[in-house]
Amino acid sequence: MKKLIAAALVGTMVLTMAGCGSKTAETTGSEASSDAAGGTLVMATNAEFPPYEYYEGENVVGIDADIAAAVADKLGMELKIEDMAFDSILPAVTSGKADIGLAGMTVTEDLLENVDFSDTYAHATQVVIVKEDSDIASPDDLEDKKIGVQLGTTGDIYAGDIKDATVERYNKGFEAVVIDGEPAKVFVKENEGLKMLDEAFTEEDYAIAVAKGNDELLDKINTALGELKDSGELDKIVDKYITAE
Ligand code: ARG
Repeated sequence: MKKLIAAALVGTMVLTMAGCGSKTAETTGSEASSDAAGGTLVMATNAEFPPYEYYEGENVVGIDADIAAAVADKLGMELKIEDMAFDSILPAVTSGKADIGLAGMTVTEDLLENVDFSDTYAHATQVVIVKEDSDIASPDDLEDKKIGVQLGTTGDIYAGDIKDATVERYNKGFEAVVIDGEPAKVFVKENEGLKMLDEAFTEEDYAIAVAKGNDELLDKINTALGELKDSGELDKIVDKYITAE
């Protein structure tokens, strides 16, 4: 997706975004453990989303990976990360192939019909990335434009609501990209000729998805998250990946 955004927005430039290696999903086919005691906690994610999840060499790292590791540790479980397309994460969770979906995933009413969410662990925004010389100065200027998004994300949903806009799922030739704020900062920083509009498009919250009705796991995750918040460990994880401006 990074390559495609860059190609579409800035043409010929070479990308140097962190963790840029394009990896195919690690599919092991192993079923997620259904009991939480001492088993494996399988996390479904889409590791194209720095600083929340991205590749460093062979490993998926980032805020979500560290949170999952800390939660698994508290649960006495071993963490296994499965990288897949963003829109495959929910099916993985609802089918039981994964225990949790942890992917900078925004809590929305629609998703709540299909999965349960933990307490939120991060506040986020959707922002707009444009070329530096773009005449798009605010989200209001997106009418009639070609907008790039990642399939199945909230950016996809919001862009679809803009009057007369054409929504492209990271194909060629768009004039703006709607994406979460933190990945946007990484992206703009590592690619010349792009900028992020000052005005955010929306505000949202991230949480961990679990299969509907899996209250036992959900309770354990919420307890673990609460402890991570209270002990300051969550802030430490965030600070490790996001440097304060
Ligand atoms: N926050 C947005 C959403 O939930 C985008 C998340 C994309 N995450 C990813 N790992 N690619 O729809």
